[in-house]
Amino acid sequence: MDKPVVAQYKPYRVNVQEGERYLWCSCGRSQSQPFCDKSHVGTDFNPVAFNATESRAVLFCGCKHSASGVLCDGSHNNLADEYAEDERPVEELLRSSTEISFDSAGRAQLDGGCYVQQPTGLAWTAVAGLQLATVISAADNARFIAQYMVRLEGSRSEVLLYPEVDVVLYCTAGSGRVNVAGREFSVSSRTGIHIRRNEGFALLRDSGEELRALLTVCPGTAELKVLEAMPENFDSRFADRKVAYDAAKRVTMADRFYQVLVGEDIGSTEVTQFIGQVPKSKAAPHRHLYEEAIIILSARGTMWTETRRAAVQSGDLIFLPAEQEHSLQCTEEAGMELAGHFYPSGSPSINY
Ligand code: FES
Ligand code: FES
Repeated sequence: MDKPVVAQYKPYRVNVQEGERYLWCSCGRSQSQPFCDKSHVGTDFNPVAFNATESRAVLFCGCKHSASGVLCDGSHNNLADEYAEDERPVEELLRSSTEISFDSAGRAQLDGGCYVQQPTGLAWTAVAGLQLATVISAADNARFIAQYMVRLEGSRSEVLLYPEVDVVLYCTAGSGRVNVAGREFSVSSRTGIHIRRNEGFALLRDSGEELRALLTVCPGTAELKVLEAMPENFDSRFADRKVAYDAAKRVTMADRFYQVLVGEDIGSTEVTQFIGQVPKSKAAPHRHLYEEAIIILSARGTMWTETRRAAVQSGDLIFLPAEQEHSLQCTEEAGMELAGHFYPSGSPSINY
């Protein structure tokens, strides 16, 4: 069997049109990438048809090693030992970008609506037995994700509901339980919980440290409702709602790792939640088709967009609009750990 030629080590972004048929080049020899120009003739390869069922942006595989064939599945990241690095000299990077200071609300505004929010600048409000602060909302031009930080100092919150959207909880500190529509799941740091559409939920704290969590509401925003009683509408088709970090379940991505916590495996088809680990490095600038929210869990670094950059450290929160060019740099030898949430759901390894 002939081997495919790597046309490029990243995918091709194409706006496909509903009802159109595209012939993707599987051999890598075409001069009209990502499409076939018949250069495969005489090889073991043939083009593969892609029928567009809706008009949207898609990422056609450019490395020709995607396990899913036509579309990028992130396999290009593993064709080299190291994740694609930014090879521009540091002096050039510093010269071509401006370091943005944090304003009085702890926010540094980068290009294209991307921002870094320091937790010390969040505005807290007492809601339903919790302290709640908005991290991302429609007011920030977020289209698909709303995100809140919550703190529970008492023993339990009231019953909460975000109607008609999914909620994904990520516990950042403390321990306790989350009651999801009548079923309880224990939570502690680095645990994710999926609350399905129209299920109520409540947080319960163990003794000791306050319970802290991120609530990611998706897709779009919904007004929080406080209920008098827990609705008993747990969707038992999806009994598995909790995923904890487990080093044995990490996926290798060149010199990095990630583990999807809440994702399609447990029935979350709207939003993906993951933990990522990156070494001391600066990735080459890249983009994702999805809208993303990131919390830095450890280490210092820099968030770069085209013309701006901001220092980041543990606890900082980042909003990244879909298709915004960026690079998150880790500047510490120990490497950086982060947790991300993005819409639409999929693999965190797909970038272009
Ligand atoms: Fe081939 Fe991403 S470009 S898997
Ligand atoms: Fe590559 Fe046709 S040119 S499959």
